[in-house]
Amino acid sequence: MYPDFPERVLFSEEEITLRVRDMAAAIHADFRNEPGPLAVVSILKGGFVFLADLIRAVGLDITVDFMAISSYRESRPRSSGVRIVKDLSESIFDRNVLVVEDIIDTGLTLSYILRNLKERSPRRLKVCTLLNRAGSRIAPLPIDYCGFEVGDEFLVGYGLDYLQKWRNLRFICTLTERGGERAGISG
Ligand code: PRP
Repeated sequence: MYPDFPERVLFSEEEITLRVRDMAAAIHADFRNEPGPLAVVSILKGGFVFLADLIRAVGLDITVDFMAISSYRESRPRSSGVRIVKDLSESIFDRNVLVVEDIIDTGLTLSYILRNLKERSPRRLKVCTLLNRAGSRIAPLPIDYCGFEVGDEFLVGYGLDYLQKWRNLRFICTLTERGGERAGISG
């Protein structure tokens, strides 16, 4: 199905499944005695695959909402020029909120989003990320639930893309420049 792919599988489908199950169990334990449904907030687009698996494993009453931001990468690299292009549909005032990300890299995206969400006075605000690239951090962040620590390799699959491709891979793998060329993607 994916000739010449992957370069190197970093996390297999089975490893991801087990880790997501553990994270869901930790979230369940932390929120099971809290009032009201947990407000799960996902940042488009990369988190949607992880989100779909996590919310089905968590076993709690939840609501799901989405935010989309224009990335600082598109304008001024390594600046904090993040802008909301799609806001939440519902209020999170006095709600328990869990922000779900696929990967935290510099932390600039999420630090902006957390500042923004805190101004809406949620009851509790927690962060869950499948992948954490701690070595690239510019803006320090509290992470409550983390799937895997990763290095600076370029990763695709399970929601992560290269030029919008490869989000549908069941596993997470590295993509080198050579791999991108072989896969027929030109940047
Ligand atoms: C990724 C990821 C985070 C952000 C993290 O999104 O989903 O939102 O980068 O990077 P940071 O910590 O350096 O701010 P991306 O901009 O690749 O867009 P996508 O989710 O649409 O793939």
